[in-house]
Amino acid sequence: MFSKYKKSTGTPGAAPDAGKAEKVTTIAPAQNTAPAATVTRKAAQVSPAQVTPMDKERKRKERMGELKLDMHRVLLDNLNLSALEHASEQDLRQEISAIASEFLEERSVVLNREDRQTLTSELYDEVTGLGPLETLLKDETVNDILVNGPQQIFVERDGKLELTDINFKDERHLLRIIDKIVSAVGRRVDESNPYVDARLKDGSRFNAMVPPVAVDGSLVSIRKFKKDKLGIDDLVSFGAFTEEMAAYLQAAVATRLNIIVSGGTGSGKTTTLNALSSFIDNAERILTIEDTAELQLQQTHVGRMESRPPNVEGKGEVSPRDCLKNALRMRPDRIIVGETRGEEVIDMLQAMNTGHDGSMTTIHANSARDGVSRLENMIAMAGIEMPLKAVRSQISSAVNLIVQASRLQDGSRRMTSITEVTGMEGEVISMQEIFRYQRVGLTPENKIIGHFTATGVRSHYAERFRMWGYDLPPSIYEPVAAE
Ligand SMILES: Nc1ncnc2c1ncn2[C@@H]1O[C@H](COP(=O)(O)OP(=O)(O)OP(=O)(O)O)[C@@H](O)[C@H]1O
Ligand SMILES: [Mg+2]
Repeated sequence: MFSKYKKSTGTPGAAPDAGKAEKVTTIAPAQNTAPAATVTRKAAQVSPAQVTPMDKERKRKERMGELKLDMHRVLLDNLNLSALEHASEQDLRQEISAIASEFLEERSVVLNREDRQTLTSELYDEVTGLGPLETLLKDETVNDILVNGPQQIFVERDGKLELTDINFKDERHLLRIIDKIVSAVGRRVDESNPYVDARLKDGSRFNAMVPPVAVDGSLVSIRKFKKDKLGIDDLVSFGAFTEEMAAYLQAAVATRLNIIVSGGTGSGKTTTLNALSSFIDNAERILTIEDTAELQLQQTHVGRMESRPPNVEGKGEVSPRDCLKNALRMRPDRIIVGETRGEEVIDMLQAMNTGHDGSMTTIHANSARDGVSRLENMIAMAGIEMPLKAVRSQISSAVNLIVQASRLQDGSRRMTSITEVTGMEGEVISMQEIFRYQRVGLTPENKIIGHFTATGVRSHYAERFRMWGYDLPPSIYEPVAAE
């Protein structure tokens, strides 16, 4: 029946053994099969109406899981995997459905239409994709997928984490999927290399850590790649910042201020950086450096670099700093570093100070002031022996603007502050906040009530903006009265 992709040699693994052939398994939707006479009496003690359907549903799921695993083995035994690579989706689905029917028939398993369809589509995902992760990867509303061992998969939707009812059969199943992902990019993960970063085929960022370092089963984190990145207009309409702030940011980017986007994990730093890049003139040559290429710039003249960790033998590393040093020899107008977290900070600040103004990066920090201390720490950690005052003066002359991205407790993501670096006062870097998000309270549903406002301080760069043709009206610097 399934000749096209079936292995030409060997006997089918699907041949039922005598014992199994006799076994009749019926998986039908939960039914209450208790005899009528006992129902009323027992109801008071164990309330079967509440317990039984749930138990049955659980058992049904378990059986489906076992069936799928058995069937997956049969499929792998029978399918010619190299021929599969060239098979069309429709062909393959038909083939899998045919094998599934045969398998179920041989074992006398009766499934309803819906279960049969779920089973074959899950099998398709197992054979061609990433098993249980596949549905979540396809789900547009999911931003992050977080796996804590085989039985627990969380997703992030609208800034909130939710536990899903999807799981892996067991740790071996999870490990097999992890292995499939990392071997596709020529990496390996095992006890001696227990963690790995990779990029999925669709561009999503993937990180895994396996036991024994991961104590309760493998940990997987996926940041889904959004094909249509959120642009300035989307972010304004989502309430991430206002039109006025967007106009200010446009002036800042177009007039080549050096900008740092600061924020916590998943606060929207990369999204903000990507959106800000849309204000760069199309004639400029932009070089981007990232650990995992996530940025999607709209300009014509873009050179993208991805740093590389060392291979299994500890060789072949290309650090972000290596990329940055090389980028400086590639005649960039602007350099965008996806995230600055180590010694590359030195070269980044130098680039910002020496003719590559208009460069941008992100850092992990909780406020503009905290961001500056992060930079100081990174410089100290890079082993640069410089007096603190000199370090600060280097930072203050390199960085013009710090934009703070935050994920608030209700899951909303907002630009909570735009702060200018204006110079040094004695030993201290001076800064002034131009816009901020003012929180005023909480609704009964725990949604944050607040509004954006200017602080009343006129931009240090107002004159520069004007000279470059971005004459912002003074009204944008006026505070918004609280409602
Ligand atoms: N203002 C926003 N409104 C809604 N969703 C947003 C907003 N900003 C970002 N997102 C979504 O939130 C997720 C995290 O965003 P992003 O990757 O930019 O965060 P990050 O701070 O760079 O994270 P990491 O620290 O992991 O690098 C993405 O899926 C993105 O599409
Ligand atoms: Mg990021």
